[in-house]
Amino acid sequence: MFGVRHFEISDLERVVEIASGSLTESYAPEFFLNICTFYPDCFLVADGCDAKTAGFIIGIRNDCSSARILLLAVDESHRGEGIGSRLLGRCLHMLQLHNAKSVTLEVGVENVKAVSFYLNRHFRIKELVKGIYNDGSDAYVMEAVL
Ligand SMILES: CC(C)(COP(=O)(O)OP(=O)(O)OC[C@H]1O[C@@H](n2cnc3c(N)ncnc32)[C@H](O)[C@@H]1OP(=O)(O)O)[C@@H](O)C(=O)NCCC(=O)NCCS
Repeated sequence: MFGVRHFEISDLERVVEIASGSLTESYAPEFFLNICTFYPDCFLVADGCDAKTAGFIIGIRNDCSSARILLLAVDESHRGEGIGSRLLGRCLHMLQLHNAKSVTLEVGVENVKAVSFYLNRHFRIKELVKGIYNDGSDAYVMEAVL
């Protein structure tokens, strides 16, 4: 069983490790420290049964009624255990408590598993954005109404 809680500075090293092993773009530790400073409410981590941080999610508010999921990643060795679903569910709940009515996110068109993960969790594909990533690849903008 795993628990979900707010990010703490002691999670930084592990979060950077999970991000670099899971995501195509790279993120410096300062990126996560800035998120933790300016948007701490929906920066959540999940602890695996070994008490090691197994995944994280970052949600931020765009304006008074809309929000964004910036990043979601689960360590490869813990995928398929429900951690991503739990992180997403908790983050959406917290964004809803902050009055968000809709949430968007970007996901690489070639990331079939993640696109299907979000489609199975009330998101729909809203638009295609060409060349958004550093390697020139495209993303879908996906949206869920809360
Ligand atoms: C997308 C991601 C966050 C999902 O996390 P997760 O903890 O594996 O999610 P869950 O266990 O809650 O659900 C995974 C889904 O894949 C299925 N699955 C089963 N075994 C799996 C495995 N070994 N690996 C991945 N998915 C598996 C689950 O049954 C579930 O299917 P469903 O959508 O039909 O319910 C994770 O795959 C990941 O970190 N991917 C790399 C980073 C990424 O693409 N992030 C999203 C873009 S920002």
